[in-house]
Amino acid sequence: MGKGFYISKAVAVTCVVVAIAAVATIIALSVVYAQEKSKNEAISPPTTSPDTTTITPTTPSTPKEPWQRYRLPDSLAPVSYNVTLWPRLKTNADGLYIFSGHSTVVFTCVKETDLILIHSNRLNLTAFEGYHAKLKGLDGATAPSLKNTWLEVPTQYLVIQLSGPLQAGSKYELFTEFVGELADDLGGFYRSEYFEDGVKKVVATTQMQPTDARKAFPCFDEPAMKAVFHMTLIHPQETVALSNAMNYGKFLSQYPVNITMDGQKLIQTRFEPTEIMSTYLLAFVVCDFAYIGTKPGAEVLIRIWARRKAIEEGQGNYALEKTGPILSFFENYYNSSYPLTKSDQIALPDFSAGAMENWGLITYRETALLYNPDVSSNGDKEWVATVISHELAHMWFGNLVTMKWWNDLWLNEGFATYVSYLGANYAEPTWKMKDLIVLNEIVGVMAVDALASSHPLSSKEEDIQMPEHISELFDSITYSKGAAVLRMLSEFITETVFSKGLSTYLEEFKYKNTVYTDLWKHLQMAVDKAGIKLPSSVEVIMNRWILQMGFPVVTIDTKTGKITQKHFLLDPDSVVDRPSEFNYEWFVPITWIKTGVERQQYWLVDKEATNNDMMLNANDWLVANVDMRGFYRVNYDAGNWERLLAKLSSQHKDIPVINRAQIIDDAFNLARAEMVNTTLALRTTKFLNKEVEYMPWQTARNNLDYYFLMFDRSEVYGPMQAYIKRQVSPLFNYFKDLTLNWTKIPESHTDQYNQVNAISLACSTGVKGCRDLTTGWFREWMKNSTNNKISPNLKSTVYCSAIAAGGVEEWDFAWSMYKNATIASEAEKLMHALSCTKQPWLLNRYLQYCLDPEKIRKQDATITIIYIASNPIGQPLAWDFIRANWNHIFNDYGGGSFSFGGIINGVTKRFSTEFDYKQLLQFKEDNAGQLGSATTALEQALERTKANMNWVAMNKKQVLEWFTSETSSPV
Ligand SMILES: *[C@@H]1O[C@H](CO)[C@@H](O)[C@H](O)[C@H]1NC(C)=O
Ligand SMILES: *[C@@H]1O[C@H](CO)[C@@H](O)[C@H](O)[C@H]1NC(C)=O
Ligand SMILES: *[C@@H]1O[C@H](CO)[C@@H](O)[C@H](O)[C@H]1NC(C)=O
Ligand SMILES: [Zn+2]
Repeated sequence: MGKGFYISKAVAVTCVVVAIAAVATIIALSVVYAQEKSKNEAISPPTTSPDTTTITPTTPSTPKEPWQRYRLPDSLAPVSYNVTLWPRLKTNADGLYIFSGHSTVVFTCVKETDLILIHSNRLNLTAFEGYHAKLKGLDGATAPSLKNTWLEVPTQYLVIQLSGPLQAGSKYELFTEFVGELADDLGGFYRSEYFEDGVKKVVATTQMQPTDARKAFPCFDEPAMKAVFHMTLIHPQETVALSNAMNYGKFLSQYPVNITMDGQKLIQTRFEPTEIMSTYLLAFVVCDFAYIGTKPGAEVLIRIWARRKAIEEGQGNYALEKTGPILSFFENYYNSSYPLTKSDQIALPDFSAGAMENWGLITYRETALLYNPDVSSNGDKEWVATVISHELAHMWFGNLVTMKWWNDLWLNEGFATYVSYLGANYAEPTWKMKDLIVLNEIVGVMAVDALASSHPLSSKEEDIQMPEHISELFDSITYSKGAAVLRMLSEFITETVFSKGLSTYLEEFKYKNTVYTDLWKHLQMAVDKAGIKLPSSVEVIMNRWILQMGFPVVTIDTKTGKITQKHFLLDPDSVVDRPSEFNYEWFVPITWIKTGVERQQYWLVDKEATNNDMMLNANDWLVANVDMRGFYRVNYDAGNWERLLAKLSSQHKDIPVINRAQIIDDAFNLARAEMVNTTLALRTTKFLNKEVEYMPWQTARNNLDYYFLMFDRSEVYGPMQAYIKRQVSPLFNYFKDLTLNWTKIPESHTDQYNQVNAISLACSTGVKGCRDLTTGWFREWMKNSTNNKISPNLKSTVYCSAIAAGGVEEWDFAWSMYKNATIASEAEKLMHALSCTKQPWLLNRYLQYCLDPEKIRKQDATITIIYIASNPIGQPLAWDFIRANWNHIFNDYGGGSFSFGGIINGVTKRFSTEFDYKQLLQFKEDNAGQLGSATTALEQALERTKANMNWVAMNKKQVLEWFTSETSSPV
């Protein structure tokens, strides 16, 4: 599945609005992680009534009947399916949206058996003479008669007991007919709705991964059960039907034809047979969308589908322009031509993940495929390019060659995430995407993986059984850490060798399934062929990174050349209760540069070692983990830290830009883990007054966020603001010059990002000229609301800054623009900006609006309250509001999209005093029994408040002293 699957919508909005690619604080990340884990709560209960003809057998004496196991037996193997589905885009007499259909599956009997288990979930199956299926022998085989059939609900099987055995080596054909609900539950065959010119439109679409193909038709729904699919869709005349394969072509004599069913004039669209593929990659859509596509005669037909309006406005053009080049990049990278004849990509109004790599018909959220240059920011554009790249990478890795079982999901998703940056880099060579992976994926997941609650990348096959277990795997460890360790591997065996290994792997296993060691085998062959020297085999090296959680901190003593490694834990007191057979030691590829010496490399394979090349003379410096290619943190002896800081102050450009960001990130995290002084971490930000690059600035911002949360209501705040104001002033002026007095958009992608940092930090710390600038732009817009000239990249920060500096007039204007916004991303930016005001009464009024669905849609209430709580003035107001209205919130907003856990996390993230702690305890006591999904969040909040109290107690004095002395001394 595409990126962003594990980010709930609310969190995704925050990320986009507050700071693109923002990693936020360490604490915030653990919160995101907690939310990921609970993301699958929202699946609605079955609405179809239970099949009354179902015969449930008496409870079996042994709990291990085959139908009670979550995995299919290995007795049957599907060959092909012939499926016809008819979704109704209008409600039936009972007010339900349904679909009906029938399916024939041809399968081979591999081992003799008198039992057929086939997945089927929430389908109402037609009974034929009392049985839920019909069985036929093929090629002369005789099928035994059916003895008993029933639906086994917990394991989601249609169980068919036979009166005699199926013969090994024979083929059979199983027919079923069924009705299902076309619900708006975002899983299986589901419905999405939107309005166009005031008319409600219904789209029937699918999301099968991981285990919902069985909701669309009975099937052997495991990734290794590959088969050929012959799809037919029946749909209204004004609509088009799409699926993995083409709706016409050399195998089909038939173009879509008119038919009449139940007195309705309809179209029947048959599709070419698919390639041999897994069920989770199936897709079918019925809609009245428009498309733009490549011209006839192109080698691969590429089409971008979306709402008619969106296509007319050209919002699909960017995706169309980039898909071709990205496909050619991957053909070249894998040395394997695109396996299909067409590539359809479609933007859906309702979609749970970011995107889904269905083979030949990729489905997307609108924001992940559509781009509108007038309103979308460069970050929105980057999201589109990387998501497309991620999904196209899966067309080979994942689709052509598929993991045998879900426990290897990390390889599929980690891989696609890693190479999505290579593909995006090819499509947008000036964007420095290969650098941005560090900020977007790696440092963020390091914060999650440094907690004692983390888990290893790779799971055992037997530990992943139930659909819930499978869904839990879609988290940031799987995607981002997976990407980080594969990037590290690709770096130490070189990108060329890595892609050679991939190419032979794809060739050997095409149309088949693999386990991760199959990839290691092919990479090893490529390594051996290229004569690359490694301390051990690819498998042995990588096992350390994938079979144990966490990562090491490497400490280099440049006085002695001694190097040591240790499991890095953010909280020095945390207890790791997950034993590791490798004793938390890794094979660490250490790269470094030092004064006057180019990059060198060394493998640390033990707990400690000595390398004389890392011994330094008194004036030299050394920085390790060049470009953060390894997944580890680095600490040094005090002398080297001092010389690194001096180097940063004098000639920071001698240190590569990613390492300038890395030094900041490592230092702040080592300080949190009490391995270096907090003041050392703060000192890594001193060179920023000369820095203009995005990555170091963004890293500093992410890390300083925590300091703001802890201190923005204390005496530390003044000196801290003064310090940041001093540091950011040169950056603000730099961008003023670069943009010719703010009249031009910076050319470079990362400069565009950093311009946002410059303006938002300058305005919030009171750099002269900043507020006049943003307020001026905003005022101009207020003069003529149909004429907004604020650059899309800057909108978010300009709105926020102008509303913070302004009063009720600005607020009311923004509110009316929010209510009138027709573009979702514009509404989201305004919704956030409205929380930036400094007027308590406006914030309180905004909070009240959150309980009025006429003013703020229920789905947006949670995030709005969280935004308000992020404002230091709004935080106590939001906390009072929550406490005063908990009863009402809990009872009226109980279900659906209101996230109690999210609210508790958002409102309490500043809590750091004994008083805060007592209030939380009181809240817990007062609302016992009506906390619902906030229960866990409340426990986490209590724990986090304690941790914050400790941190503040230990650090406040030195932080205050440091900021004070910095700002009182001359620059
Ligand atoms: C199907 O019916 C529509 C009008 O109802 C007509 O325009 C179209 O030509 C018909 N197509 C075929 C293949 O008969
Ligand atoms: C920017 O404006 C200042 C005065 O406001 C002026 O002195 C300067 O020349 C301008 N720079 C550019 C590049 O237009
Ligand atoms: C407002 O801006 C729009 C678009 O630029 C323009 O067509 C319109 O005339 C302006 N209205 C006023 C009152 O200036
Ligand atoms: Zn994916």
